[in-house]
Amino acid sequence: MQTKGVNMTPVSPGPYREAPPCEGLCRSCRAEGCGKKEEAGRCFRIRGGRPLKGSVSVHGAKNSVLPIFAAAVLCRTPVHLARVPRLSDTGVSLRILESLGCISALSEDEAVVDPSAVTGSRIPDRLVREMRSSSVFLGSVAARTGEAYLCLPGGCELGARPIDLHLMGLRALGMTIEEKGEKLHAYHNGLKGADITLPFPSVGATENILMAAVLAKGRTVLRGAAREPEIQDLCRFLRRCGAGIVGDGGPVLYIDGVPELMGCSYAVMGDRIEAATLLIAAAVTGGEVEVRGFSPADTGAVLGVLRRMGARLRVYRDRVQLSAPHRLITPGRVDTAPFPGFPTDVQPVLSAAAALAEGETVIGENIFDSRFKHLSQLVQMGADVRIDGRTAYIRGVESLHGAGLKALDLRGGAALVTAALAAEGESRIGGLQHIERGYERLEETLSALGAEIERV
Ligand code: EPZ
Repeated sequence: MQTKGVNMTPVSPGPYREAPPCEGLCRSCRAEGCGKKEEAGRCFRIRGGRPLKGSVSVHGAKNSVLPIFAAAVLCRTPVHLARVPRLSDTGVSLRILESLGCISALSEDEAVVDPSAVTGSRIPDRLVREMRSSSVFLGSVAARTGEAYLCLPGGCELGARPIDLHLMGLRALGMTIEEKGEKLHAYHNGLKGADITLPFPSVGATENILMAAVLAKGRTVLRGAAREPEIQDLCRFLRRCGAGIVGDGGPVLYIDGVPELMGCSYAVMGDRIEAATLLIAAAVTGGEVEVRGFSPADTGAVLGVLRRMGARLRVYRDRVQLSAPHRLITPGRVDTAPFPGFPTDVQPVLSAAAALAEGETVIGENIFDSRFKHLSQLVQMGADVRIDGRTAYIRGVESLHGAGLKALDLRGGAALVTAALAAEGESRIGGLQHIERGYERLEETLSALGAEIERV
């Protein structure tokens, strides 16, 4: 389908398939013809059309606790963390800490990490492959032990995911980083503060540079730093451990190195992406919810976009109450951007809401080069989508129908769940291992809001 002057690539719908009787074979796997039997409990079965209603609290933030676990390596004494989400990525982080010689324990949503005996400097390749954000251990391990070994995390479903900015900053602090194929070896004889400028406010690069600079001699100025709330949470944690950091939340961080850090007790911030996901799911199902346990200001431009779509919001210090109209209207054009812009991690879920919102929504994905993979499955549910490079044009339809679906990445999976909640009929969603990386017991949270969702 062509729009005048623009070469639009229609997203080709796969053949529509009714969700099958439950035979332990996840529909989406059979849909893909792989025939692979997903073990029981690895699919969601969702019957859509029920407005979400009620009040829920979010969990601790995945994208905050992961760098904080890495920062624990810098400390000489134990770290006690509260609001630790029970996610597969949490487990991987604890296994990395143990491989470095830390002793760790996790019970309910509390974790204790004793880094006093850190001796290791090799971040296990298999754990890096399991969780690409393990690269954030590079700076802290090298700062604490004098060296670090890491295999390049490589790309993922979202695109190339290079770490060149991480390495540029660490080298500026005095690290030698040898790259042999996929292997990195970083080492130094003492780190020295530097004046570093990031050409792009990379979250991971800011975290890695920050965690090395806190033990460097002298002052580091990090210009063009990421301003995300998770960076601010990490800085709060590090200051409580004795680090000298000012400027967090702004584009320039000033870090005055200290000889050592001591562990502390700290509660991880509420997950703003989980909160945004739940609010948008409530909005697109015509619901009325209260989402608690996070700072609404952390959601950047999300609340403004929800208001443009017709949702009525009451915003408090640590919660948002939302009531939705019968049908949302398009917010117009939404571009993802670094904080305080519209978060890229919320873009897939927004696209699911846009699929049913009156009018045409234009979404620009400016952070990752491949974050529209979920859209073809929304088309399978009846959505009207056209993609032109990093821009998606989504014309809202009156209704979506359930289908056999498969999550291909974390937030794309959340988008499929959101669409299934609002669709007519039954959907099955496989690939839950992606969703479980970032949403703790999502089916329980949604069931508590009245959704008809279960694991099969
Ligand atoms: C963090 O990833 C988050 N992950 C991502 O959340 C989030 O989408 C992203 O920040 C942006 O907010 C964690 O915190 C664990 P970046 P990160 O470095 O640090 C390019 C989720 O769904 N880049 O800000 O990898 C990069 O390719 C995940 O929870 C370089 O080119 O993000 C990307 O296009 C997904 N060179 C862009 O910058 C570098 O050295 C943003 O990357 C680093 C990044």
